[in-house]
Amino acid sequence: MSKTVVVTGGNSGIGLASAHELASRGAKVVLACRNQTKAEAARDEIVGRTPGADVDIMSVDLSSFEHIHRFAADLAQQHPKVDVLVNNAGAVPQKQQYTEEGFELQFGANYLGAFLLTHLVLPQLEAAAADTGDARIIHLSSIAHNVGRIDPSTFRGRKRYISFNAYTQSKLANLMFSNTLARRLPDGISTYALHPGGVDSEIWRELPSLVYRVIKLGLISPEKAAKLIADLSLSSEYLGKSGSFHTAQPPTPVSRTARDEAKQDDLYNRSVALTGIEGLPIR
Ligand SMILES: NC(=O)c1ccc[n+]([C@@H]2O[C@H](COP(=O)([O-])OP(=O)(O)OC[C@H]3O[C@@H](n4cnc5c(N)ncnc54)[C@H](OP(=O)(O)O)[C@@H]3O)[C@@H](O)[C@H]2O)c1
Repeated sequence: MSKTVVVTGGNSGIGLASAHELASRGAKVVLACRNQTKAEAARDEIVGRTPGADVDIMSVDLSSFEHIHRFAADLAQQHPKVDVLVNNAGAVPQKQQYTEEGFELQFGANYLGAFLLTHLVLPQLEAAAADTGDARIIHLSSIAHNVGRIDPSTFRGRKRYISFNAYTQSKLANLMFSNTLARRLPDGISTYALHPGGVDSEIWRELPSLVYRVIKLGLISPEKAAKLIADLSLSSEYLGKSGSFHTAQPPTPVSRTARDEAKQDDLYNRSVALTGIEGLPIR
């Protein structure tokens, strides 16, 4: 039976390429996107390239807890079993922005939004795992997590906003979340994190064009990153490797902070309090 895979930010860059790769391997793909026009264009592109592809569109804006709750409720109705959740969506604004709840946008949407969404989708992942013993959560982190620092005084905004610092904090948080989840998830649900490589996508859109042209020389295609994400989603090769970290462009070291269980758990407990959900105990 085909697997149901939810890809946040599936309308662009790595998310779109992953959605296409997954659909071409026979998965039913749910594009969870904030912009429905872009989502429809993405679905048309996937179906145009892979006739018969099973692609659904759903609306979610990770910068709003209310949106995330509404999305999760709709998803539970439309897709009571979810085999894979790919937490891909991310933004890198050059000027400081805030989520609806007043969190700095990169911490609030790239990390906290994905944190909340993951917990709300757990019942559907558990339902899939009850059937197959194999449900998965995939987190888009980055090699940049190595220079990230978790600083609670910045969660609601930075006095001096440096976009890169906010980004690296959010990507470190994504990886620490995957690592702590590996010690908390029920049997049958695995968690993986990855650095997709330096990928040519819209994420660089706010950089000055000269900087972008230099950076572009070292970037890989979204399709290369997508292949790894589709493998992590579907391949039996990764079973039994929950909590592992991968990359489409090695080498990618994992920082000491990301591996520190006490720091992972501290961030987890803070995030539970910030999102108002019931956290998972350590097993
Ligand atoms: N590209 C790289 O070199 C690289 C390296 C390491 C990690 N990553 C990670 O890979 C992931 C995908 O990035 P990408 O390079 O493919 O960038 P991208 O082309 O800019 O795609 C980002 C996606 O996230 C969506 N998104 C942003 N904010 C959102 C929100 N509040 N709610 C819902 N969706 C939202 C975007 O929607 P819109 O189209 O509506 O903006 C878009 O679909 C990100 O998590 C990024 O941190 C990328």
